[in-house]
Formats: sequence, C-alpha cells, structure tokens
Amino acid sequence: MDADVTSGCTRHDLEPQLFEAHLGQSALSMPGKPEITVFYEPDTHTVCSVVVDPLTKKAAVIDSVLGFEFSSGNTSTAHADQVIEFIQQNGLDLEYILETHAHADHLSAAPYIQGRLGGKIGIGEHIRIVQDVFSGVFNLGPDFKKDGSQFDKLFADGEVFNLGELDASVLYTPGHTPACVCYHIGDALFTGDTLFMPDYGTARCDFPGGSSKTMYSSVQKILSLPDETRVFVGHDYLPKEGRKDFAWETTIGEQRRNNIHIGGGKSEEEFVQMRDSRDAQLAVPKLIVPSVQVNIQAGRLPEPASNGKVYLSVPINVLSNTGSLNP
Ligand SMILES: [Fe+2]
Repeated sequence: MDADVTSGCTRHDLEPQLFEAHLGQSALSMPGKPEITVFYEPDTHTVCSVVVDPLTKKAAVIDSVLGFEFSSGNTSTAHADQVIEFIQQNGLDLEYILETHAHADHLSAAPYIQGRLGGKIGIGEHIRIVQDVFSGVFNLGPDFKKDGSQFDKLFADGEVFNLGELDASVLYTPGHTPACVCYHIGDALFTGDTLFMPDYGTARCDFPGGSSKTMYSSVQKILSLPDETRVFVGHDYLPKEGRKDFAWETTIGEQRRNNIHIGGGKSEEEFVQMRDSRDAQLAVPKLIVPSVQVNIQAGRLPEPASNGKVYLSVPINVLSNTGSLNP
C-alpha cells in the first residue's frame, strides 16, 4: 500500500473504521502531492476519499455515502460520521464536497457533511442533462430546477481550481453517465466510475445518456496523463478470480498497460462490443430509484409531507430491468 494512503477498511473487517492519519510528516508534505485517506463503504463498495493539502490542511471529500436500506426506508449517517470525525480530529478545513457523477447505487451524504462542516458541493456542469431526464422519470414538476443550481459549484471541462496550495482541474469524462467528471488534484486522479481497478475494468454504460463509444474517448483522455499519476477509483467489487483484498489505488501507467477492458491498446470497436454485450446482462442497481432521485438534488431528500415525514417515489414500469428507460 502506498505510504500516502491509509485505509478506513480492510478486507477482513468490512465495518468502516477510524484510523490514525499522519498529516504533516515530511514525506507527505511534498508540493503537489495531496495526502489521500480512503473510507471504503462495504455495502455499496464505494470508495470515498478525503483529499488534503498537507501545507494548508484544506480538504475535499469525494463521493460520500449516506447509508440507505430500501426495505425499511431508513437512512444511516454512520459512514459519513467516520469521515466527519476524521476531518475534525485532524483539524482540516473542508473546502469541497465533490461528486464525480449522480450515483445510481448510493445516496450522497454531501448535504449532511456540509451541514456539519461547511464546504461547497460540486459536480460536473452536465448534471443538467441528468436532471432533465430524471426529473421526468420522477415527475418532479415545474418547481424542480434543471439548471444544476442545487449544487454550489458546477465544473466545466478543463476548469482549474485550487485546494489550498494544490493545483486541481476537472476532466469531463462522459460514458458511464453523460455528466461524469474526474478530479485531478495534485498528482492524483479520482476517476469515479469511469475506470475501476485494472483487473476489474470499467463501469457500465447503459444508463440513460450513457455510451460505450463515448466512454472509450473519455478513457483515452485519461490515459494521456503521465504514467506516474496516482489513480483512485470510485468502486471496488473484487474481480471474480485473483485478487482477494479490496483495492482502490493504481496508476495511469498500470491502467494503460493492464486494464482488462480498455488497456493494452484495445480498439474502440473491441471495447464497445465487449461493454455493450456485458451491459445487456447486468441487473438494475438495487438503489437506483432512491439514489438518482436524491442525487440529482445534490443529495437532498425531498421536503417533508404534510405529516412531517419524508417520502421518495417509485416510478412503476418506467425503468427497464437494466436501469435504462422503457420505451
Ligand atoms: Fe456510478
């Protein structure tokens, strides 16, 4: 494991755990090199990262998770609380709460974290496309704004920003969804669902507005970064064979050489054929209905009904069995 990365979870203990960070050590204070602490969320296999500029202690959280049990309708802040506690215990100043895309497999904890620690909730500007499609799916009505204004910051392709003294930029990488972005902070790239670990490959491209052909182009853009760029993926599910421990960090060089779906010089035609045939076999994500409904509103649950309770809706016969839209 890279010395700059500590993990909140191990293969043998899937409960998120607190752990000791080592902020301020000389090896971690190199300019342009963020300290990254990962909190793996085992129910949805999500990789939530806390990215820190060691010089200023400014921090960003990427892809946070609000626990949700569909069968009971209960939410859980347990995982987000671990992240919050880590930020507080290390005296970090949370500047950004970033989303790589509108997730279809888990609810974002961004508003909960913002309520406790502040920070700006950011996402790629093409979230508007996803809002347009899914506001129709969930019949959110004319009051729902499809302009992304629920988020504090909408990032354009190539937009640059700073996290403390660290230079950061945004790569627009559609394919898995039409709004996916990767965040490039210092020497680290956070790929969300655009690239998984090399032995797991890539994410599905069959959600509304997704495209395997577009994904191929996005990945070529990512692979043009320097080989030594650290890569942090958005999920890890473990491959069917081989590796037994969850992992989330690799490099651009590793991805270019070894990604089983798209590395080793795979052609666009090969990738598209593989991706589309796999996607046709995949089941709809368990939490797609609550997740998308909430995440297009920057992770906010709907306003309480007249009885003070909060309700989500389930569109009947609108989504297909793989998560695309029925005709
Ligand atoms: Fe996703």
